[in-house]
Amino acid sequence: MRAVVLISGRGSNLQALLAAQRGGELGVKIVGVISSRDDAPGLRRAAAAGCRVAVVDATRYPGRAAFDAALSEQIDAWQADLVLLAGFLRIFTDDFVIRYQNRMLNIHPSLLPALRGLHTHRRAIAEGHTEHGCSVHAVTPELDGGPVILQARVAVRAEDDEQTLAERVLRQEHRIYPHVVRWFADGRLQLNPDSVILDGKPLARPLQVRAGDPLPD
Ligand code: GRF
Repeated sequence: MRAVVLISGRGSNLQALLAAQRGGELGVKIVGVISSRDDAPGLRRAAAAGCRVAVVDATRYPGRAAFDAALSEQIDAWQADLVLLAGFLRIFTDDFVIRYQNRMLNIHPSLLPALRGLHTHRRAIAEGHTEHGCSVHAVTPELDGGPVILQARVAVRAEDDEQTLAERVLRQEHRIYPHVVRWFADGRLQLNPDSVILDGKPLARPLQVRAGDPLPD
């Protein structure tokens, strides 16, 4: 199975996926990395891992439809069975999402449906959340609104600031994202527009794990 990873920045989730691939734990081959920016640090991580890279520079396209068309062209040229969003900071057209809906995953730094959008760690602290975390979800046209598959819960500590909380959540992102990819690779996970099927059964609610606990099989 062939996967393409889409990034816009740092690429630490990409790195975690590449590490899982190297360890034989991912179940898919990352055949290419696409960045929406030519200065994304993640591009260097991809190149260092010997991965093909492409830049589809969002600033060069007149609008979202043109950008998404260029993106699709690259994804399809690499014959991707799975599209993994990993810090990809672009909002897609509905057409793009619908085209890849049954084979596109995202990692989001909150316990969805709480805290969609940006600056989730800052908002979790400001709003006095006692728990925070991250979610791997299927992608649907509704931003950060697709069915959630697996979440990791992280306690918010009194002394946390945005950065310390982000670091603890990020460590969990790096655990749960490759794990869900493996389920997809093994044919255990099917993505539908409004539900996900795991081991033949619709997931009534996201699976959850606490930081430090073992991941579900
Ligand atoms: C992560 O927090 C991810 O959840 C969010 O964007 C950030 C990307 O970080 N979607 P990185 O580029 O993977 O380091």
